[in-house]
Amino acid sequence: MADDARGPVLVTGGAGYVGSFAVRALRARGERVVILDDLSTGHRAHVPEGVPLVEIDLRDADAVQAVLAADEFDAVLHFAANAYVGESVREPRKYWENNVGCTLNLLGACLDQDVRRVVFSSTCTVYGEPGLPSLTEDLPVAPVNPYGRTKAAIEQVLGDYGAAYGLRSYRLRYFNAAGAAADGSLGELHEPETHLVPLALHAAVTGAPLRVFGTDYPTPDGTCVRDYVHVEDLADAHVRALDRLRAGAEGAALNLGTGSGTSVREVLESVERVSGRAVPTIDAPRRPGDPPFLVAAPGRAQSELGWSPAQPGIDAIVASAWRWHSRST
Ligand SMILES: NC(=O)c1ccc[n+]([C@@H]2O[C@H](COP(=O)([O-])OP(=O)(O)OC[C@H]3O[C@@H](n4cnc5c(N)ncnc54)[C@H](O)[C@@H]3O)[C@@H](O)[C@H]2O)c1
Repeated sequence: MADDARGPVLVTGGAGYVGSFAVRALRARGERVVILDDLSTGHRAHVPEGVPLVEIDLRDADAVQAVLAADEFDAVLHFAANAYVGESVREPRKYWENNVGCTLNLLGACLDQDVRRVVFSSTCTVYGEPGLPSLTEDLPVAPVNPYGRTKAAIEQVLGDYGAAYGLRSYRLRYFNAAGAAADGSLGELHEPETHLVPLALHAAVTGAPLRVFGTDYPTPDGTCVRDYVHVEDLADAHVRALDRLRAGAEGAALNLGTGSGTSVREVLESVERVSGRAVPTIDAPRRPGDPPFLVAAPGRAQSELGWSPAQPGIDAIVASAWRWHSRST
């Protein structure tokens, strides 16, 4: 729990989608929080009142050093990154520079300022195309695109820094983050949007057809199966990871998913149930690098953090996203 004598938690990317929910969760338990964000894809409106926003780019190593030196930070939650798989194939330099170069700046400053607790946003993309219905953390890390490779690289850096410098970290491999606050006050706002739930809500509202990439996969209905995890559950896992690091845990790489798969068609059906509107679709070819199944075996996060999703069903996730979408459009 929060402790007044403790320094603040630095949240990079705290104005973004997942980071803003983590900020909320930390604030709800009385933690002091500082957000570091350049607002390149984040939103000033998602920074809660009373939370300082340091608006700098992590590329600026001196500025990052100065931020870390300005307070006695207790820990860093590192969300800031670029996170579009397709863009990473077209512009790998952007991804290596931002996701790896910037993170090295940040971790260097952590070492210099003696901040030894880090929670890092990794991704199930590090598993590549494993061809298995359920993924455990013991599987080889074998990403098939630059985005996944940058995340895998930082996982390795964190492992090395842990062994050599005692920097302890959780590398949290999110599956598909989705959903919004129950009261519709905070939610997903990516530009451009590539995530299925907001795209399907948009299609339901506008009537513009949604492309379904691949309808001939070896899955029950031919469309890709993914593991949708509520963004508030992700935020909760970060708070738990922070507590475990404070309690002296070494850290680990952990899957954050529900363990249950939902196909693209099942998501669209859920959107239709929740919104009461049809989702028009067009069948499109498979996208390279899209495996049929990406579903977590979530047992390790449960045993390590005592975490399990409180809002696991797709309808609950979609209903919260629908409330947010209805308010924000
Ligand atoms: N959304 C998902 O489904 C998902 C799944 C797996 C992993 N992740 C990871 O979770 C993290 C957050 O994802 P998100 O969906 O919230 O993305 P987002 O784009 O909404 O948030 C990223 C935030 O980081 C900031 N940022 C980016 N580069 C920066 C820089 N150089 N300096 C300072 N700030 C910078 C952006 O302005 C933004 O506020 C990312 O690391 C992403 O790779 C997300």
